[in-house]
Amino acid sequence: MVKHTATSVVTIDRYIIEEERLHPQATGELSGILYDLALAAKMIANKVRNAGLADVLGATENSNVQGEIQQKLDVLANDIIIKAMDHGGRLCAMASEEMPGLIPIPEQFRCGKYVLLFDPLDGSSNIDVNVPVGTIFSVLCKITRGNKGEMEDLLQPGRQQVAAGYVIYGSSTMMVYTTGQGVHGFTLDPAIGEFLLSHPHIRMPDPGRYLSVNDSYEPLWSDTVRELMQRYRKGDGKKRNGTSSRYVGSLVADFHRNLLGGGIFAYPANRKSPKGKLRLLYEANPLAFIAEQAGGAASDGEHRILDIVPSELHQRAPLFIGSKSNVELAESMLGGALTGVGA
Ligand code: AHG
Ligand code: MN
Ligand code: MN
Repeated sequence: MVKHTATSVVTIDRYIIEEERLHPQATGELSGILYDLALAAKMIANKVRNAGLADVLGATENSNVQGEIQQKLDVLANDIIIKAMDHGGRLCAMASEEMPGLIPIPEQFRCGKYVLLFDPLDGSSNIDVNVPVGTIFSVLCKITRGNKGEMEDLLQPGRQQVAAGYVIYGSSTMMVYTTGQGVHGFTLDPAIGEFLLSHPHIRMPDPGRYLSVNDSYEPLWSDTVRELMQRYRKGDGKKRNGTSSRYVGSLVADFHRNLLGGGIFAYPANRKSPKGKLRLLYEANPLAFIAEQAGGAASDGEHRILDIVPSELHQRAPLFIGSKSNVELAESMLGGALTGVGA
């Protein structure tokens, strides 16, 4: 595979094909999923960019399976992804943060050998105030027999993922993904409607400069978590310096900054939410795959995120994700070990 630099003019489609060639047995189905996700990302970006003009800001009257009020763009993004992905013949089922159960492939379309899980719009509470939002996706292979996807195909540990990534609708629109061959970032050139390679082989600096955590939950944390945050802030005066606090309330935006600049994002368990807030299957797992592929790590404080065996589609997990030494500090204080001891 050509070792591109950030100056090579390479479209995401070209890059996907070159990555596919690394796997002689590849059928092109996974590449097709990534192409279609890039198309969906362009369509969502267009809606997000014009949200203030077309009546798509604000909330609907409905709430989703999470019990959260659905923003109009949550629903729009969800529908765009389903319609972009349901007919390509590569998927046998999908699951979305915005929908209660398994999303089947319509009868009239062929089923494929992959499943897709996604958070169509992450950071929804930020839409109306023009703070970056994102889309997060995770791809797994079907493991059950038969044609149609089943819940068992969706409830796999994150280490089984074959691809994962996110789109960030920020000062520019970027798509960042991994298929296990490193992490690569593509920036949308709106003038030509193409995602162009801008960040080849992303590596997460370690130790990290940034601490991303919602301090308003401090009164609800355990003493150990409080002490951990203090140690992040102050550093240890030796290897690890102190950190700057950066938290925008969109996981994708906070994660992306830490991926490029080095840092730790933490959403610990607290007395009100003993499993934290973030969802394992379509938030923690895909970003954990990206983090590890970029030399970082992701843990729930006791277990490597990618080793957690899920039991429910929308289950939550405490999340410490980012530069490896920062995650290791969390694990050393909260009782885990990054040895991949599965839950
Ligand atoms: P979503 O909009 O998909 O529900 O995700 C929101 C999540 C995540 O993006 C962010 O890190 C977190 O909620 C912020 O939660 P707090 O407002 O509790 O800090
Ligand atoms: Mn989210
Ligand atoms: Mn969401």
